[in-house]
Amino acid sequence: MCGIFGYVGSRINAGQMVIDGIKHLEYRGYDSWGVACKKDNEISVAKEIGKISGVNGEDFAFHSSQAIAHTRWATHGGVTELNAHPHLNEEGTIAVVHNGIIENYTELRDELKKKGHIFLSETDSEIIPHLIEEELTNTQDFASAVRRACQRFEGRYALLAMDSTSQTLVAARTGSPLIVGVSPQDGYFIASDIPAFMDYTRTVQYLDDGEMVVTDGKSILFTDIETGEERPKREIEITWTIEQAQKGDFEHYMLKEIMEQKDSIARAVNQDEDQILTLANAIRNARGTFLVGCGTAGKACMASEYFFSVIADHHVNFAPASEFKLYHHFLQPESLLIVVSQSGETADVLEAMKVAKSKGAKVLAIVNVEGSTIEREADYSLLINAGPERAVASTKALTGQLAVLMLIAYAMADKLKDGKTLLLETAAMINDMLNPRYIQRIQDIAELIKEKEDLYIIGKSWNYPMALESAIKIQEVSYIHAEGFAGGELKHGPIALIEEGTPCIALVGNDEVTTDILSNTIELKARGAHTIGVAPERSEAFDEWLKVPDAGTAQALVNIIPIQILSYFLAVKRGKNPDMPRNLAKSVTVK
Ligand code: AGP
Repeated sequence: MCGIFGYVGSRINAGQMVIDGIKHLEYRGYDSWGVACKKDNEISVAKEIGKISGVNGEDFAFHSSQAIAHTRWATHGGVTELNAHPHLNEEGTIAVVHNGIIENYTELRDELKKKGHIFLSETDSEIIPHLIEEELTNTQDFASAVRRACQRFEGRYALLAMDSTSQTLVAARTGSPLIVGVSPQDGYFIASDIPAFMDYTRTVQYLDDGEMVVTDGKSILFTDIETGEERPKREIEITWTIEQAQKGDFEHYMLKEIMEQKDSIARAVNQDEDQILTLANAIRNARGTFLVGCGTAGKACMASEYFFSVIADHHVNFAPASEFKLYHHFLQPESLLIVVSQSGETADVLEAMKVAKSKGAKVLAIVNVEGSTIEREADYSLLINAGPERAVASTKALTGQLAVLMLIAYAMADKLKDGKTLLLETAAMINDMLNPRYIQRIQDIAELIKEKEDLYIIGKSWNYPMALESAIKIQEVSYIHAEGFAGGELKHGPIALIEEGTPCIALVGNDEVTTDILSNTIELKARGAHTIGVAPERSEAFDEWLKVPDAGTAQALVNIIPIQILSYFLAVKRGKNPDMPRNLAKSVTVK
């Protein structure tokens, strides 16, 4: 996590530019921010605790053509100004911004301390400028010193470094994303994510793991960190627009992205049919298919266990990506790992891919961000085409993931056309559902339960993973204690939690488990729960009813929508910013 952004080139307002640009990366972390600008062979630094969105870029509009900036999600060391980036050597001649974790930092810091270096912060990152300084006693060249320092780091990181004398910006990555923006008239931009520089260019080059890049603003060189060998790079044009990545008239990204599901589901469904059939075949021929993802993406994987079972009569295994390492005994070269990730950068997912590849298994990635590490490192990949998702709470990516997984299940059952028709009809129903009257009804329910501190959600079949997902959504943005359960599990323990007035949401479809989940809801009501049914039909089991269309096997996509909206309004009504939940970041690039 953490967002980093740097620029070197012909523009003379580098400080203002990186401050404005890094505001687009605030989704990656927002504990504190900082900037370093080079001006007349001196580096000036500003850093503060808090969100960068409130900072006026014009305050940094002094003459400078080289700058780096950072927005932090704390890992090592608390949220203090001293721990905020950039970090510098004692003389203030080398500045570094860093994302990730240098795992062997204690050992390196002890070594540097013995050589007389003094550290001011509690971070692992501060060792970087000091080690570069130390390496400058072995080489005159700043870029070579950065390379030598990087060769000593263990862990996953991305960094940008500059010094006060050379017009050189150096970037290196191992495990955390870095993308170069290329503009023949302006120079080079290097950032954790593309929106940072989209006001200036849509032409990008991706750094791969173990690579570094050196630029003076006029030319650029990509090399292997270890060997120094040049790495040729393609220029890629970004197809989405900056408007898609902005809030527009919405108060928050989260609401904007919920509403975008009017179109994004159809975009996910309109895949190249031959590709879907190839993937369905890959699953059919695999000896064991495993699906992994984290958080919301993991819940999409879990729901697909039901899709593949009910639609395609085929068994697949889900594991949270962070647990997958322990499954290596089951993997063989004929196994298939399907990874699902919005960002395409999640460290636990990359780790799972490494485990599968080490056993010779093939990896299929279902991702949203084109050009992301997961997309590039997988053997096959499929984009869900949701467009940029900026809110920490994942919404439109989930329904895109569910749609693609269902499509593959239908293709396996030789019913791809039927699956496509059902999903497009579902997308149209969701479009109708997202109307002002419906949203007002959900707001009213949010008003009713906003002061509650506990909330439970139940579901069965694919609505069970959706109950777990509902809990994530409510927890992360409203901070209400929410938990999801399989309806049938209530009587084995959780029902003891129910008190008079406890809000309980039941996710219901119109299928073979409807009677069961309704009787679970009645059991809750009998213990005093205030029941809220999300269901196609009214039932006496519900105190409140949120009507949803009957979408058959696609019910999971429909039922999660009112919960996303409810979570949003619970957050807003409780005075929380749903786009920036405490302790979280959008892209989790640390293990
Ligand atoms: C959900 O709202 C999350 N913020 C989180 O659980 C997320 O889904 C998870 O971190 C996985 O991210 P990814 O899809 O980018 O891999």
